[in-house]
Amino acid sequence: MSKGLRKGLTNYGDAGFALFLRKAFIKAMGYSDDALERPIVGITNTYSDYNPCHGNVPAIIEAVKRGVMLAGAMPMVFPTISIHESFAHPTSMFLRNLMAMDTEEMIRAQPMDAIVVIGGCDKTLPAQIMAAASVNLPTVVIPVGPMVVGHHKGEVLGACTDCRRLWSAHRAGEIDAEEIEIVNERLAPSVGTCMVMGTASTMACVTEVLGLSLPMSATIPAPHAERFRLAEASGKRAAEMAVSGGPRPSELLTPAAFRNATVVMQAIGGSTNGIIHLTAIANRTPYGYDLDMLDEIGRIAPVLIDLKPSGAHYMEHFHHAGGVPKLLAELGDLIDGSAPTIAGKSLGEIAAEAEIVPGQDVIRPRSNPIKAEGSMAVLYGNLAPGGAIIKRSAATPRLLQHTGRAVVFTSVEEMALRIDDPDLDVTADDVLVLLNTGPKGAPGMPEAGYLPIPKKLGRQGVKDMVRISDARMSGTAFGTIVLHITPESAVGGPLGLVRDGDQIKLDVDGRSINLLVDEAELDRRRAARSTVHANLPDRGYARLFQQTVTQADEGCDFDFMIAKKN
Ligand code: FES
Repeated sequence: MSKGLRKGLTNYGDAGFALFLRKAFIKAMGYSDDALERPIVGITNTYSDYNPCHGNVPAIIEAVKRGVMLAGAMPMVFPTISIHESFAHPTSMFLRNLMAMDTEEMIRAQPMDAIVVIGGCDKTLPAQIMAAASVNLPTVVIPVGPMVVGHHKGEVLGACTDCRRLWSAHRAGEIDAEEIEIVNERLAPSVGTCMVMGTASTMACVTEVLGLSLPMSATIPAPHAERFRLAEASGKRAAEMAVSGGPRPSELLTPAAFRNATVVMQAIGGSTNGIIHLTAIANRTPYGYDLDMLDEIGRIAPVLIDLKPSGAHYMEHFHHAGGVPKLLAELGDLIDGSAPTIAGKSLGEIAAEAEIVPGQDVIRPRSNPIKAEGSMAVLYGNLAPGGAIIKRSAATPRLLQHTGRAVVFTSVEEMALRIDDPDLDVTADDVLVLLNTGPKGAPGMPEAGYLPIPKKLGRQGVKDMVRISDARMSGTAFGTIVLHITPESAVGGPLGLVRDGDQIKLDVDGRSINLLVDEAELDRRRAARSTVHANLPDRGYARLFQQTVTQADEGCDFDFMIAKKN
C-alpha cells in the first residue's frame, strides 16, 4: 500500500500526474523533497476563538510537531470543526456526529500514515475517537487537559459543578448579584477542560484506559509544562506508529477494552454522558456496547476517586495523586491488564509503574472506597423499556427509593416559563418530569435533565428532588436525576404518557422506574396521543440528524455510521 504523500491520490485518472500536481502545490509552502518523502503524521487543529477549553491547542500542536520531526517523520496540521459546550446552539451533542464525520472524512481524504487528534471539550474526544475507530489508521489521542482550580473566599472552585451550585445559591437569594459576578470571573481560571469529573474528564480517562493515549494524558493540567512534554512524546510515538503501521484502533478497541473503560467510568464517578459516547464508539466497532454490562460492573466496581461532583477534589489533585495508572493499580483484578495501549505497554504494565504518592487521599484503595458500588445504574420499567440511567453517586441517598406525584413540563421552553411561577403546584416530594428533550425531541438531547429546583422550594432550603427526563445531564451536575429515558417521548416513548398528578416510583435498588397508572388508562392515553414524531426540518444537517439519529441506548450516532456487528 502506498505511504506518505503517495497515499490517496486525487482522482484525475493519471496517478503520476496526480502526484506531480500534489508535489507542485505543496512545494509552494517551501517543503523540500526530503520532507515530502517522509512518513506523514496528520495533526488535527481544533483551536477556535469560540473554544476556550482548547486554548492551549496551538502550543500542543507545536510540541507534537517537534516530537514527530525528532522521530524523523513529517507533521501535517489540518483543521476540523471545534465544539465548545457553551457556544453550541442548540446543544453540543447536536454537533458531535458532524465533528465525527468531518474528522473521519478529512483523515480519509488527505495523505497521512498516522494521526494525532487533539481534543477535550466534552463532545470533541468522543467525536474524534468515533472517527478514528471508523478510519482505523494508527491514532494517538491527546486530551487538552483540565483547567487549574479557582478560589473564592477561601474556597476552592471548579467549573462547572460550582457554577451550578453557586448559581442555585444565587437563585435562592443566598448570593447577591455583585458577588455572583465576582464568582463568574473565578470559576474558569485557565484554558483547559472543566476540572471536575464532568464529561471532558470522564472521556479523557476513558481514552487513556482504551489505550489510545499515553499514560497520564487524562489528568495533566492544561497549562502545565508536563502537558507539552506529553504532546512531544505523543508526536514521537505517532511517528513510530506511522512507520510500523500499528497499533490501529481495531487492535485496541476490543470488548475487554470497553469493559475496562466501563470499570474506570464507574470508579471515577464518571459523567452519564460517557455512557452515550462509549456506546457510540463501541458501535463504530464490530462489538457494540451492553448496558447490562454497565449495570453489572456498577454493582462490583467501587467509586475510588474523590472528585467533584461525587467527591471533594479536582482533576489536578487526581493527577498529583498518580492519575489513571494509580487508579488502575488500585482497581487490580477488576481490570483486564493484558489490554494493549499505544504506549507499547499493556494496561497492567502501566499500572505496575504507577507513582506511589505518600498521604494522597484522592485515589482510594478498594478497602476504603468513596462508595462501595459504582456511580451509575441502569433502570428499566414501564417508563423506560429501553433503559434509563441514574448517577447514584451524585444523588441524595434517601431519594433513591421514592414515590411521588408527577409535575410535568412538556418542553425545555415550557419548563423555563413555569418552573419559578409562585403558583406552580409543587412540593419537595414531587417528581419533576421533562418531556421532548431526547435525541430527536429537542433536538440533540440537551443537558436539560438537571431541572432547576423551583425557586419557591429553593428558598425553603430544598436542594434536591427526583427529576426524570429523556434528556442528558452535564457530568458536572448533581442530584437525584433519571436521564436518557428510552425510547424518548418525541418518538412515542411512554414518558410522553405521564400527566400531572400521576404517581411515579423510583426504585434504584430494584433498578426500576415505573408509572403507577393502570394499563387501561395508559392505553386510553396512547390512543388519544397526537402525532408523536418530532418535526422534520426542511433541509441540511438538521434534517439528516432528525432522520437518522439513534436513541440513547445506541449512542445517538447516525444509524448509517454504525459498524456491522460480529
Ligand atoms: Fe469545555 Fe466543560 S466547557 S469541558
